[in-house]
Amino acid sequence: MQLGSQTLALAYLGSAALFILGLKGLTHPASARRGNYYAIAGMALAVAATMLSPAVKSYAFIIAGGVTGAVIGTIVALRIKMTAMPQLVALLHSFVGLTATLVAIGTYLTHARAGAPGGVLMAELFAGSFIGTVTCTGSLVAFAKLQALITGRPLVFRGQHLINLLIALAILGLGADFVLHDRFASLLLLTLLALVLGVLLILPIGGADMPVVVSMLNSYSGWAAAATGFTLQNNLLIITGALVGFSGAILSYIMSRAMNRSIVSIILGGFGGGAAGPETAAAAAAGKGVKSAAVEDAVFLMGNAAKVIVVPGYGMAVAQAQHALKELMETLEAKGVSVKFAIHPVAGRMPGHMNVLLAEADVPYDHVFEMDEINPEFATADVALVVGANDVTNPAAKTQKSSPIYGMPILDVYKARHIFFIKRSMKPGYSGVENLLFYQDNCALIFGDAKHVCERMAVELKSL
Ligand code: TAP
Repeated sequence: MQLGSQTLALAYLGSAALFILGLKGLTHPASARRGNYYAIAGMALAVAATMLSPAVKSYAFIIAGGVTGAVIGTIVALRIKMTAMPQLVALLHSFVGLTATLVAIGTYLTHARAGAPGGVLMAELFAGSFIGTVTCTGSLVAFAKLQALITGRPLVFRGQHLINLLIALAILGLGADFVLHDRFASLLLLTLLALVLGVLLILPIGGADMPVVVSMLNSYSGWAAAATGFTLQNNLLIITGALVGFSGAILSYIMSRAMNRSIVSIILGGFGGGAAGPETAAAAAAGKGVKSAAVEDAVFLMGNAAKVIVVPGYGMAVAQAQHALKELMETLEAKGVSVKFAIHPVAGRMPGHMNVLLAEADVPYDHVFEMDEINPEFATADVALVVGANDVTNPAAKTQKSSPIYGMPILDVYKARHIFFIKRSMKPGYSGVENLLFYQDNCALIFGDAKHVCERMAVELKSL
């Protein structure tokens, strides 16, 4: 059975509508699950309609590729840890980029055999190959950084911007040559240069800027898919690519604003992971020493508090402490203590990371507050309990001009009357910058795994 062009167009329209409903659903934790179902239905419809489209001449390769991909995808999805999700996303983006490049080259070869391809198609092939290749190698470098296969520090060298500019100009020149003179060698050469450009663009980006980079690569992968859609004359791929391209770009913009950084400075790279200068306030503060506290100290103060604000971070995800935290919240509330959760936009390792984990543990949404809503409340909080967060609380972002995180908005934890940090060691957070808060008089560290410490807190609290 094959679908007629009108039925196919209707099916694609239905898929596009379902994808848009899916994105809409993802804007709030309460509707996120429904959003995912819409997107799954949209994708199922898209795959079924494409399989039945007249463009498909043989099923052998499609079935072989589909089964292989499904097996690998299922195994990876079952085994992947939530904390390793950003690198998985980066790796998947690289596949989208690689596909766009291969489709561009393959389409050229097919058309070249049948006669000279048109100018518009040639321009699409150039765009697909260029964007696809930069996305592919850029995402691979992001994957290697996030997976700690290479250093997460910015790899900066003299003249890198000039080199990038020259490579970009050479790619444009070769692209023009390919489109105007139908020279396949130029397409191959520009693809090779784009391969190098992808690596050079991401290498200098370090530490705290990686979330924005992954979201930007997500956006690039959307544009690469849209370019493939033009090449294959597939409207749904164009719409889907544009949805991913725009939503990724908007997300990158929101995240870079949350970190008080301009997108351009992130693209140009060289931020995060650096040391904070030779004689800094951090070094001076280190001389004062750090206080450590016992679980019982924190429990006593929290049990007698009116308001406790919990600040979850990446360590909560590593320890999977969200269920223990929920229990701690309920125990505190049973004693009449008000408990609120404060979420920084880049807490954890991916957008919405903390919201997803707290929702999984059934923490009510009305207990969870975004940074701007909760910041005025720290000054009236008796206790701020920081669970595996670090960078997002560091006052160096406000006070230390020389710090790499200077200017990034933080949760105003430092204003709370008492601060307890749950972490395992004195190691810094993702950006590699020392947290000045540790040296504040009202702050104490409780060393241990976040899940175990929170479980012990709940037990101790019940017997208080
Ligand atoms: P971080 O600053 O990375 O701090 C996490 C803290 O958790 C560390 O100090 C670590 O200290 C502690 N920790 C790790 N495992 C733990 C465990 N099992 N039990 C208790 N503590 C544990 O995290 P954050 O405050 O959430 O800030 C996020 C950072 O990651 C920002 O710099 C952000 O730019 C970056 N980032 C964000 C994203 C997105 S999109 N959200 C993506 C990539 C990177 P110990 O090792 O001493 O335990």
